[in-house]
Parts: sequence; structure tokens; C-alpha cells
Amino acid sequence: MLGPHRLALLAAAGGAGWLAYQLYLRSRHHALPMLTLQALSELLGTLLRGHPHVALHLRGASSSLRPVGEGLADLVGNTPLIRIRSLSEQTGCEILAKAEFLNPGGSVKDRVALEIIQEALAKGRLAPGGLVTEGTVGSTGVSLAMCAAAYGCRAFIAMPDDAAVEKAQMLQALGAEVQRLRPVSITHPDHFVNVARRRAAEQPNAIFADQFENPANFRAHLKTGEEIWEQTRGRVDAFVSGAGTGGTIAGVSCYLKQRRPGVQVFLIDPPGSSLYNKVARGVMYTREEAEGKRLRHPFDTITEGIGINRLTQNFARAQVDGAFKGTDREAVEMAQYLLRNEGLFVGSSAAMNCVGAVKAARRLGPGHTIVTVLCDGGHRHLSKFHSPSYLAEHGLTPAATGTLLNFVA
Ligand SMILES: Cc1ncc(COP(=O)(O)O)c(C=O)c1O
Repeated sequence: MLGPHRLALLAAAGGAGWLAYQLYLRSRHHALPMLTLQALSELLGTLLRGHPHVALHLRGASSSLRPVGEGLADLVGNTPLIRIRSLSEQTGCEILAKAEFLNPGGSVKDRVALEIIQEALAKGRLAPGGLVTEGTVGSTGVSLAMCAAAYGCRAFIAMPDDAAVEKAQMLQALGAEVQRLRPVSITHPDHFVNVARRRAAEQPNAIFADQFENPANFRAHLKTGEEIWEQTRGRVDAFVSGAGTGGTIAGVSCYLKQRRPGVQVFLIDPPGSSLYNKVARGVMYTREEAEGKRLRHPFDTITEGIGINRLTQNFARAQVDGAFKGTDREAVEMAQYLLRNEGLFVGSSAAMNCVGAVKAARRLGPGHTIVTVLCDGGHRHLSKFHSPSYLAEHGLTPAATGTLLNFVA
């Protein structure tokens, strides 16, 4: 039996359909502007979606489809926010993650590369035919190479030679010039960041992207924060992230706290990084860890893209309430956990972020909504983080099974 509510709804839908058809007929004869039609159909859609019975049927329909975009730039950002069921059930919190691996360059760094290049073009510091240089372990390089090409520019990327080899191969395939360098301290002139900076200074129409210090990085992630706010409809209690440049945690924390100061922001820091000390104790590093004193690796972790021993301009903007330390084993086990329980194949920083989300859930207690970032996919990490032989060599062969999170300390 059709109740009075359903009858009224059917009548409204029928009337709306008739109206739309009449408008369509008139538009063919009297050239009614298409925009008017579009606006009307959107209005009808909005009215109908508001009804509880119709909402179910229309969910995921045309409103969630993107309109025609303008090339590569319109593919960047606006990533889905997904609920990680297993982590949510095990912690009693809603654990949500931004699927940044769905950006066209495969990582969260597309947002940063696009903002840096668009700002430089807008300010006249870069023009088509120009060169964008950067020192990076790879993800930002891929994003810069793609975004530079989209604006008729080229890319030069300097990176340490112990970064996963497929990162350099990918950059070369994208047409970037790549220089791989022995890892040295940032104070050394041959540090990959300094090499990239010099290269831009040597020629006209060239910019050093400078993702660590460039505030465009932070600005790119204000948008990430806005997306999280919109996608959760403001129902977010905490945000957790590792930091490399600090752009993600800075931009997201500033946006969310501006909307609601009570949102908690936590850092998850890998072994060897000094940011945990900075947040938890107010000091950057112990004397032995100071930049320039470590001989080879600036820090000692399997994770890539996160962890640093200096305070960047971008991290300095972050509004962080607390910090957790994460171990390589926790990250490796988490990556396998996400694959086993969710079919999610993520990179090392994304896995570490999920470790951080679990630690935040335990600190806050059940019932909270915690958001983190899946920075990139696992395919970028086949020679290290997702290599069984590499993991075995480093005593990191994953051992956990099932759905329990006992491996997170
Ligand atoms: C894969 C990956 N994850 C995470 C990060 C860290 O993000 P942010 O630089 O915004 O702190 C980076 C930075 O390079 C990265 O490449």
C-alpha cells in the first residue's frame, strides 16, 4: 500500500518530470538557455535528495560525479575519504583516511606540486618553457614532473641514491632529468636539496620548488583540511599524520582548528626523526643527533617521506597537540594488516599514519572520529617496504595475522 507520504512524493516527482519535459521541449524551440535547465534540474535533484526515501536511491548518483574538468590540474585533490572498517571495529573509533594515492601522480604530493607551479606562474616567476627543480626522495618529484609538463615546463630532480630505485625510474619515464646523490647532511653543499637549489639559481625562467620551506605547500593543504571538514560534515575529533616537509600536518591542522579549535592534532614520528622531541619536549634533537654530526643517513628508518631532523617553515606552522613514536615494525605490520583486512595496498608513510590513528584512538578512547592520510600506494615501495627479502634482511618480516592490533604498542 502506498502511504500518503509516498503518494505525495510520487505526485511531486511526476510533476517535476512533466515540468522538466515541457522545459526541454521549449528549450528546443525557443532556445531556453541550457544553464537555466541545468540549474532547474539541480534544484529538483536537491529537493528530491532531501527526502529520506529518495535519498537512498540517489546517493552516489550524478551529484557525486565531477563535471568536465580542465586537464591534469582538475584531477588533483578532492580525494575520497574512506572508513577503514577493521581499524574502526578494533578501536571503537571511526578511523577515516584520505585516499591520496588516487591523485593522478599517485600521491598526496600532487597537491603541493600543483600549488607551487600555479603560484609561480601567477606571480610571473615561471613561464612555459621554464624549469622546476627540487630535491626529493621521489614522490614530490613525480608530481612536479607531471604538473610541470601540464604547464609546458620541465623538471630537474635531485635525490639520495638510497631511495627506492623505482622512484628514479618513474621520474625518468616522465621526462624529468634525475640526479642521484650520496646521502649527506643538509649542511653539505652536495646534499640533494642544495644541488637542486643551485640548479635553479644558475639559469633564467627556473624555480626551486623548495617544498620544505615554500609556504605554497602549507597553502595546498589548507584545501586538504577543508575537504576533510566538508567530507566529515565537521564531525572530526582528531587528525593524525607523519611529517616530512610538514606541509600536510600544518595545512590540515590550521584549517581544522580554525573551524573548531577543539580538534586534536597528533604527529606520528618514525625512528630517528626529531619531530617527536620537538612536539613532546619542545627541543628538536639531542646533541648527538644534531644536523651535521650524523655521518651517513640523516635518520634510520624504512619509512620514506616522513621524519626529519630540522624545523622547516612548513612544520613551524603546524598546530600539534601531541606526538607518538612509531616503529618500522609497526609500519610494516600495519601495511600487511591493511592488505589482509581491507585490500588496501599502501606505502610506508600511509601505513605509519594508520599506526598513528590507532594510537590516537587509544589515547582518546572509543567514540571518536579520527582522520588520517593514505599518502601513496604500495607500488612505489616494491624494492624496500614491500620486498619480503629486504624486510627479512632487516629483521622486519611481518608476523601478525588476523584482525587484532596487538602489534601496535
Ligand atoms: C610518500 C610521502 N608521504 C608523506 C610525506 C610527508 O608529507 P609532508 O611533506 O606534507 O609532511 C611525504 C613527503 O615527502 C611523502 O613523500
